[in-house]
Amino acid sequence: MSLALTQTKSYPAWSSRWVFIMAATGSAVGLGNIWKFPYITGENGGGAFVLVYLVCILLLGIPVMVAEVLLGRRGRQSPINTMRELTRAAGLHGFWNHLGWLGVVAGLLILSFYSVIAGWALAYIPEMGRGTFQGAGVAESQAFFDALLADKTRLVAWQSLFMLMTVGVVACGVVKGLGVAVRILMPLLFVLLLAMLIFAYRHGDFSAAAAFLFRPDFTALTGRSVLEALGHSFFTLSLGMGSIMAYGAYMPAGASIGKTVLMVAFLDTLVALMAGMAIFPIVFANPGLNPGAGPELLFVSLPVAFGAMPGGLLVGMVFFILVTIAAWSSAISLIEPGVAWLIEKRGFNRFTANISLGFIAWALGLGTVLSFNDWADFTLGGFTFFGAIDFLTSRIMLPLTGLLIAIFVGWVMPKMMVKSELSGDNSRFYPLWLWVLRYICPLAIGAVLLLGLYDTFTAAG
Ligand code: PHE
Repeated sequence: MSLALTQTKSYPAWSSRWVFIMAATGSAVGLGNIWKFPYITGENGGGAFVLVYLVCILLLGIPVMVAEVLLGRRGRQSPINTMRELTRAAGLHGFWNHLGWLGVVAGLLILSFYSVIAGWALAYIPEMGRGTFQGAGVAESQAFFDALLADKTRLVAWQSLFMLMTVGVVACGVVKGLGVAVRILMPLLFVLLLAMLIFAYRHGDFSAAAAFLFRPDFTALTGRSVLEALGHSFFTLSLGMGSIMAYGAYMPAGASIGKTVLMVAFLDTLVALMAGMAIFPIVFANPGLNPGAGPELLFVSLPVAFGAMPGGLLVGMVFFILVTIAAWSSAISLIEPGVAWLIEKRGFNRFTANISLGFIAWALGLGTVLSFNDWADFTLGGFTFFGAIDFLTSRIMLPLTGLLIAIFVGWVMPKMMVKSELSGDNSRFYPLWLWVLRYICPLAIGAVLLLGLYDTFTAAG
């Protein structure tokens, strides 16, 4: 693959479909797969939740992702200007312009807490190497985690380092920064994950984990679990935020959108399942560890397991490096839509655009840092600052943008435009895709959104 910059309408494009696949996979695969998927699966009882999640990826995630890539490649600009241009070209109402905005704002909000949690993973790398968890029990591991969360200075230091890593790559540009980074990071991530999986197979309780993840027990499934699976399928595929739209703008013209999206969704799902199969065997092999531990599963339970294993020091380090890499390539995609927009419209250069947005997300992130210590008791409608931003983005903003995208591409945008972008695709699937996008997606996503709003008001009241 060459690094040559292909110009389309003076907009940079990646030299091949593979760079797009790796970039989009880099965006999709992140804390959502390695941290969130295992713990929400644990909380929701395992197999039945996994099944619902898979159905959501297939029925909602993939069709909306096709729509998002299509919009991005059609517009070939930042999400904000893409939406502006497309609505103008088709003579549509200016209301649709706001879609791009919502995404850019959601991206900065997500990045603000994402960088704090990625900072935890960074903090664990040297601790693992130093042997902090060698022979530690659950109580000691919990005490370590609690001490980390209570220490604002350390949290801010790690959060800042992670943010610098992110703006560093984005500052280098679409081709040399993003393009090169994902081509190195993604294969590395896969190899590390495979090593973890082999380790779990040899030293963990693999069959208990497989039964937990793949044998559906529908009695464990509640209405809330279904909602959570639905919301997570959007978060994990980076949908409803403009990341995928922004990357779609860098996609080479002739490439098939359908095939590419299937590949990205497949890889994202594969990594989530691999992460599950790397983590749960270790949890099940250690009596006293609870699969339903929640967000702490990765940071409290796993280190205990690493501390008790032969070679656990090294494996533990490798594992947290892996989490950091996955979070890094996602964070890049959270900031890129806003950066692309500032460059185009406000005449910023890439460096200042990136530093400015990075700074805003970093400053907002301080609220998340404080949610775990000084502001822990300061809640609004039952949410801490971090809880509120997490809820606002994954339960309201992402579904809202996803819903608008489904309606825009399914109902509003002239079908000629849609068809011409999909001309490289197998036309047999077009009617099916359009039908799902028009009917199933708005209904299902609309339901998630309404329940999210309902939850907000009942929590506030
Ligand atoms: N998909 C990423 C993850 O699973 C998170 C993300 C959401 C990234 C939205 C970009 C946009 O961790």
